[in-house]
Amino acid sequence: MDRRVRRPVTQALRDAVVEDLPELADIADAELRAKCIEAWAYALSESSFARVSDLPGEGNPGMFPLKRGDQTVHLRGVTQIALSIADNFTTTFPEANINRDIVLAGGLVHDVGKPWEFDAENRRRWEGDPSQTGLPSLRHSVYGAHICIAVGLPEEIAHIALGHSFEGDGVIRSLECLIVHRADSLWWAVAGGCGLLQPSSDPVLAGRKIAPRALR
Ligand SMILES: [Fe+2]
Repeated sequence: MDRRVRRPVTQALRDAVVEDLPELADIADAELRAKCIEAWAYALSESSFARVSDLPGEGNPGMFPLKRGDQTVHLRGVTQIALSIADNFTTTFPEANINRDIVLAGGLVHDVGKPWEFDAENRRRWEGDPSQTGLPSLRHSVYGAHICIAVGLPEEIAHIALGHSFEGDGVIRSLECLIVHRADSLWWAVAGGCGLLQPSSDPVLAGRKIAPRALR
């Protein structure tokens, strides 16, 4: 795969990941927590982005750009919504067996492939001749699953990175992936309904029968 030489993964890079995504500290399993941090640090190190908050607040490049806010508001919002779904069900139905740590970790890393898909240098290469590379060569869901596997995260998390998006429509989603997938699509739909997305999103929202409300 044609890609740049990786920047070194430094402790400062890992610290910046936790600063931008403070919910990482809530992952109960220490190894899972460390590998989620490593996944973001590794993904950033293969891109031009210095930290997670440098990633634009968009679903895909050019799709659903937020009027205000970077990628962390999406990642943190999806994670909080996914956790509230899990907690609501396990409170009401204690017999429901949802792995809360996997929902939390999966919510925080589901878009870990975005540094790759949003990277300006990659996009220039892909747009230069899509017949050579594809456009993009790998969507963030696929590249994100690669990152998860590369840093040794469990398959449950790689499955969420792959399956949170439409790539997951072709497989049976795990329960935790189902929750993150629904929280993710709900987040963009409600952001659209609140009028938080740039007007370029209006035709897609109209196709989904969502009318953006005027902001206060
Ligand atoms: Fe997402």
